[in-house]
Amino acid sequence: MLSFAVALAGGLLLAACRQDMQDQPRMKPLRRSEFFDDLRSARPMVAGTVARGQLRDDKYLYSGMAAANQAGDVMPFPLTPEVLARGRERFNIFCAPCHSRLGDGNGMIVQRGYRRPPSYHIERLRTAPLGHFFDVMTNGFGAMPDYAAQIPVRDRWAIIAYIRALQLSQNAAVADVPEDQKVLPAQPPAPGTPASGATPLAPEKPGEKTRRPQRPRGGEKQ
Ligand code: HEC
Repeated sequence: MLSFAVALAGGLLLAACRQDMQDQPRMKPLRRSEFFDDLRSARPMVAGTVARGQLRDDKYLYSGMAAANQAGDVMPFPLTPEVLARGRERFNIFCAPCHSRLGDGNGMIVQRGYRRPPSYHIERLRTAPLGHFFDVMTNGFGAMPDYAAQIPVRDRWAIIAYIRALQLSQNAAVADVPEDQKVLPAQPPAPGTPASGATPLAPEKPGEKTRRPQRPRGGEKQ
């Protein structure tokens, strides 16, 4: 009898302790909390917290600004043929619609009425430091929207490198070509010369009639 009473008491005690998972003391998102002085359960980040992969310790890479907030004029990472190729690809996707593939500001959107940007080949932009281009892409410029959301940081630098190459391509002098590479003097084609790649014209014999090529007889109906 006594053992039964103990078992019953124990059973009752245990039943009182029972707690279903759905009732456990948990914090509902954004619910008021008495635990903290400011009563917020969602805690602000500890000062200085940096999300993984977002430590922007290379200030120049992320701003294009050297010391004293002056636009810098160096690449923040080495320039390779791959970087230039990537820059060309991204430029043709994101910038050429307005600036044109040549960078003269005559892109298709401009031809359809959008404000015409200045050509990249004007003196001011040819001598503008690289950081200025980074700033324009990151923060926008006048009528031009920014492209910070669409173009990751390293791609922005790749685009800048390609713009510099575009600028050089339109303002190169023979003296810019390395010594071991030959530059043929540009000569206008002699009158009557077919464009390169065209089949040369057969010399006409005097007295010969030009005949139209004949169709094979009955060739059309078969
Ligand atoms: C939707 C059209 C459009 C696109 C796309 C565009 N731009 Fe522009 N851009 C403009 C216009 C318009 C201006 C002139 C803005 C002004 O002077 O108000 C401009 C100006 C500029 C300038 C000159 C700033 C100065 O100092 O005068 C640079 C550099 C430039 N854009 C770079 C870029 C690059 C790089 C891209 C691609 C990532 C790009 N733009 C994409 C329209 C565009």
